[in-house]
Amino acid sequence: MKKDIVLSGIRSTGNLHLGNYFGALRNFVRMQDDYDCNFFIADLHALTTNPDPVQLHASVKQILAEYLAAGIDPEKATIFVQSDVPEIPEMYLLLNMHVGIGELMRTTSFKDKARKALGIGPAAEGDDDEAFEKQIIGASTNKRVNAGLLTYPTLMAVDILIQKATLVPVGKDQEQHLELTRRFARRFNSFYGVDLFPEPQNFNFGAAAVKVPGLDGSGKMGKSEGNCIYLVDEPKALRKKVMKAVTDEGPKEPNQPISEPVANLINLLELTGAADLAAQYRAAYADCTVRYGDLKKDLAEAILGITTPIRDRVNDILADEEYLRRVVRQGAERARERAAATLAEVRQVMGLRGF
Ligand code: TYM
Repeated sequence: MKKDIVLSGIRSTGNLHLGNYFGALRNFVRMQDDYDCNFFIADLHALTTNPDPVQLHASVKQILAEYLAAGIDPEKATIFVQSDVPEIPEMYLLLNMHVGIGELMRTTSFKDKARKALGIGPAAEGDDDEAFEKQIIGASTNKRVNAGLLTYPTLMAVDILIQKATLVPVGKDQEQHLELTRRFARRFNSFYGVDLFPEPQNFNFGAAAVKVPGLDGSGKMGKSEGNCIYLVDEPKALRKKVMKAVTDEGPKEPNQPISEPVANLINLLELTGAADLAAQYRAAYADCTVRYGDLKKDLAEAILGITTPIRDRVNDILADEEYLRRVVRQGAERARERAAATLAEVRQVMGLRGF
């Protein structure tokens, strides 16, 4: 039986954090035995916000090593670097002909990143879209919103569609991009009257998509939020970050709803697999006996249980340049095979037939 094609990637913007792990990487490892898995390092996407050549290369290497240290096996899954597959940028150009500037401008990630590029604060309820658009158009050339940022969802759609992937394990924050990918696939198929692209779905073993919160009270864990626990954090530093997590003043009366920052800590504990402990802390909150010091200690140890084996392996892997090179060369070869076949079909369908 043909296996479902899986594709997912992580931007090369530094070390991987718990959001990347629970939202994506953990599923990459769990899926590799049963699916046709393709995992890549999105270095072209990283260029939309981090155009620093030295940093970019170091980040690509680091993420590759962290993929391997977390247990992705290059004999089971195809591991590749996005920029090693030139068919992707070519198809990105072609798909862009079918994508509206308006729909790209309306995506949440674009709005957030554009605001950052312009140096204005985060979006708020009731923001004036017209004023925002005027700011983008009127931006000075050195504080511009780059076009790559706008077309980020097209590139992501191409990553997925060029491999004809049907399952895309990603965190909750990427669901809007997946929705756009499905829309672009449908649009292309119906415009040309073909059945070229399947519509991909998020995948988390039947559970809802994950959003790992920051430990600073609300919102999500993310590099630009500066609230990350990294897989390679040393135990001392990691414990310190967890001990500093925001809580509340403690429950005032029995059975009151758990406040957001405390719920975040307990949910994170549950994500690590410590479901029983998490249930105990929920019960302790309900009867007002909860002790946040204990909760944080248990959480730090549960996290270390996951990150320590990864951290222990990563430096050895990083030191083996020859191995890393072999992995990405083999991965690029495999990824290019299917990408080239899809691109040839796309060119044909669009009338780029040659002579
Ligand atoms: P990126 O690099 O921002 O994040 C990589 C993966 O980690 C997940 N993630 C989280 N999940 C839960 N909670 C969090 N706090 C959290 N932070 C990050 C993301 O959901 C993602 O799964 N556009 C993508 C990269 C990409 C891609 C693709 C993914 C490019 N092309 C094609 C899938 C398929 C991104 O920026 O992810």
